[in-house]
Parts: sequence; structure tokens; C-alpha cells
Amino acid sequence: MEWSGQSILVTGGAGFIGSHTVVQLLKQGFSVSIIDNFDNSAMEAVNRVRDLVGPKLSLKLEFNQGDLRSKEDLENLFSKKTFDAVIHFAGLKAVGESVAKPQKYYDNNLVGSINLFEVMEKYNCKKMVISSSATVYGQPDKMPCVEDFKLQAMNPYGRTKLFLEEIARDIQKAEPEWRIVILRYFNPVGAHESGRIGEDPRGIPNNLMPYIQQVAVGRLPVLNVYGYDYPTKDGSAIRDYIHVMDLADGHIAALRKIFTTKSIGCTAYNLGTGCGTSVLEMVTAFEKASGKKIPVNMCPRRPGDATAVYASTKKAEKELGWKAKYGIEVICRDQWNWASNNPWGYQGKPLN
Ligand code: WQD
Repeated sequence: MEWSGQSILVTGGAGFIGSHTVVQLLKQGFSVSIIDNFDNSAMEAVNRVRDLVGPKLSLKLEFNQGDLRSKEDLENLFSKKTFDAVIHFAGLKAVGESVAKPQKYYDNNLVGSINLFEVMEKYNCKKMVISSSATVYGQPDKMPCVEDFKLQAMNPYGRTKLFLEEIARDIQKAEPEWRIVILRYFNPVGAHESGRIGEDPRGIPNNLMPYIQQVAVGRLPVLNVYGYDYPTKDGSAIRDYIHVMDLADGHIAALRKIFTTKSIGCTAYNLGTGCGTSVLEMVTAFEKASGKKIPVNMCPRRPGDATAVYASTKKAEKELGWKAKYGIEVICRDQWNWASNNPWGYQGKPLN
């Protein structure tokens, strides 16, 4: 069965992982519709995706500003176009903010998703790739994370991902014709090799790599390193940093699985490299790639952080035929290329 060329709805397609995945979808021959509310993204990212894929493939890209919390916005989309599958990225993802504003996270990440499931059901679109996160593993007592580990979220953001997974599993159990692939991202970083699209978080970054990049371009003075007494090689915490282009290709592999395998059910896969990198190792790698000194301030551990989190990648390799290609060197090269060419992200000038 021809497995590409179908019509795909991408929720949150103007965002960091969404925009990179849309580039790969268009290059793979899919027609793509994006719905995005610009809560943590910008139209400029969509414009640059069009530049990157060129005029011919851009004809197969449609953009709709809209919000999954509005059933009307979703009806407008599904009543006008038949979608063969949905890739569902849309959602807020800052752990710290989710602790401060849980209601905002449950509203955005869960109400929006439930609306989406309902409208997909109504229009008989039952193939879906869902964005989840390693955060659903909580703080496992052994590594690497395997997909059949007990799931235990440690914060409201993580709980929205865990609840989303459980909702998907229940829907597929109730109606076996649903084909759902859940992708658990480890730490998404890097940028498209062109330096034209990348991560552009609103306000002060929560995550390590956008924070490092803003120190490197002079937007922030110093990197606070949260934790120097972890039982690791250099005392700083370890994570599995995965290039956003590897992540994007993981979504293409998930679509291939969905379009060519009836019995996929609702299955979760880790998208990681399987390698652990410490905070201080990442700082050193970024200094090498950028030629910039990253001043650090060694601080106490951040509450809720785990010592080490990295993926077992066996299941995705075996069942999706997908394996991450890029390591820390390429990640830092591409992240610096994006940052140095876009020191103020898509805004092009200071936000305030
Ligand atoms: C990584 C390491 C920090 C900032 C979370 C979510 C996960 C995903 C990625 C969405 C930790 C340290 C960080 C800083 C630091 N989100 N750090 N100084 O917490 O592993 O994962 O973001 O997809 O779902 O759980 O990522 O980048 O925040 O932290 O020392 O200024 O860097 O303590 O050890 P995390 P992170």
C-alpha cells in the first residue's frame, strides 16, 4: 500500500518540533494542514518552512490559526478537508509553569485533546501520532527507560501527558479501528541545518539548551547549573538529548507504521538516542561548537529533577525501523547556527 502522499493534519505545527516535522512531511510527499494558536510559536516559522521546502511543495501546505479548545475551529477544519491522519503536537510543555498554573495546562493539553478525539471520531479520521514525553516515566529507579516501565508523572505537565496517553489507550480499546502511535520524546534540542527554524521559547527559557544558546548570544549573562552533587561523572545531571530532525523523522516512521500496519492498536515508543550527556558536558560541547565561553553558576538541584534519564531505543528500532542519527556535536553545531543567525528568535528583535 502506498504509505505516503496522504493528507495530514498537524496540530501545533508552527512550534519547535512541529515545524521541523512539517518540513520532513512535505519532503516525503504528504499534504499538510497546520492548526496552531500561536501560544508558543510564530507565523514566521511557517513562512520559513515554506522557504525551506520551496514553492512547489508549499502548495501542499495550508495554515489555519485556531485553537483545539474551540470545537468550532476544529469543525471548520474537518468539515472542509478530509484528513488521513493527525499528528498531535499542540500543548504547553514547561514543567515549572505547569506547577504554577496547573489549570492552564489541563485546559490546554487535555480539553484540546479531548475535543480533537471527538471531532476526529465524527469525521472518521482514526489514525493518530501523539506527542508524549519521557516525563511520564517519573524518576525510574533503573535506566535506560523501557516502554513497559510503570508510568508515574511528577508534575502537572507530566500528568497531562500521562492522562493523554491513557485517554488514547481507552479510546482505541473501545474502538479497535483506531490506530495510534504515542511517541515519548526525551530532550528535544538542535535545529534544522539551514539555521532558518529552531526553538524560540517565549520569555526566560525553562530548558537547558535554549538557555545556553541565549547566554552564548548575550541575551542572558550566566547559566545556572542546577546540581553539582549528583552521583554522576562530573556531579551534574544526565539526560538523553535528541536532535529535532531525528525526532521529525521518528514521526514519519510512525506514520509509515500506521499506514502499513492494521494491528498497531495504541503503542508507545521512546524517541531518544540511548546516550546520556551531563549538563557540564553539554556546556563544553556548546562552547566548542560556538567558540563562546558559557559562564556557569553552580547551584543546588532543581526540585523534581532526576539524576539520569535516557532511553532504551530497541523498540523503535525494531518496530518503526527508526534510530537517531545525530550526536551532541551536530546538535550543538546546528543549535548554534540557529542561535547565531537568529539571536532574538523569530521576533528578530528584543521581545520587550
Ligand atoms: C535538563 C537538565 C536541569 C536549565 C523537561 C521535560 C520534558 C521535556 C524537556 C518537553 C536538568 C538542567 C536546565 C537550566 C540547568 N519537555 N538545567 N540549568 O527537565 O530534563 O525535561 O524538558 O518536551 O518533558 O520534563 O529538561 O532542559 O529543563 O533540564 O542546569 O537553566 O538541565 O536541572 O538536569 P528536563 P531541561
